[in-house]
Amino acid sequence: AADMGRDLSNVLISEDELQTKIKELAGQIDADYAGKDLLIIGVLKGAVMIMADLARALHVPVQMDWMAVSSYGAGTKSSGVVRVLKDLDTDIADRHILVVEDIIDSGLTLSWLMNNLQSRDPASAEICALLRKPDAVKVPIDVKYVGFDIPNEFVIGYGLDYAEQYRNLPFIGTLAPHVYGGE
Ligand code: PRP
Ligand code: MN
Ligand code: MG
Repeated sequence: AADMGRDLSNVLISEDELQTKIKELAGQIDADYAGKDLLIIGVLKGAVMIMADLARALHVPVQMDWMAVSSYGAGTKSSGVVRVLKDLDTDIADRHILVVEDIIDSGLTLSWLMNNLQSRDPASAEICALLRKPDAVKVPIDVKYVGFDIPNEFVIGYGLDYAEQYRNLPFIGTLAPHVYGGE
């Protein structure tokens, strides 16, 4: 069973730091989308926390929709081939969309997703990612709003999971090596 006392190696970004950054991002988004009708799109499941907090920090009118995607084949996400498990309910043609993600790791998920969404002819399409790992990027992604650039370590919490656990932590932490097979 998960034991946070032992499993957590380090708090990388505290709850306070997260909430401060989210308000800052929301301020930029408010300014950029003033007078526009915005649809924010969360990528399940990791983006649930950032979507919920970002949406509540925004003052521009927003609609919220969700997509669920999964990497395809060989049990690894490195193929970059993505399967849609749940599509949008919304027709995004001529809409201003902002895709909200918890993290850009290799960039393969968002690269595929943005291509897919662009083909539906939105009025504009931007990305807000809470975290980005510059040292892990395989596909460069054009991100308009980034919370934190972080080292290439296994991070958990605030939506991010290890084997579906730890998503509910209110902060971002790093996992102790013994949890994922280290010493
Ligand atoms: C994680 C994360 C991003 C993606 C980033 O999702 O939430 O969506 O991986 O990785 P990439 O940049 O290398 O593509 P995951 O596939 O683990 O699903 P989850 O959100 O349900 O945890
Ligand atoms: Mn995800
Ligand atoms: Mg995951």
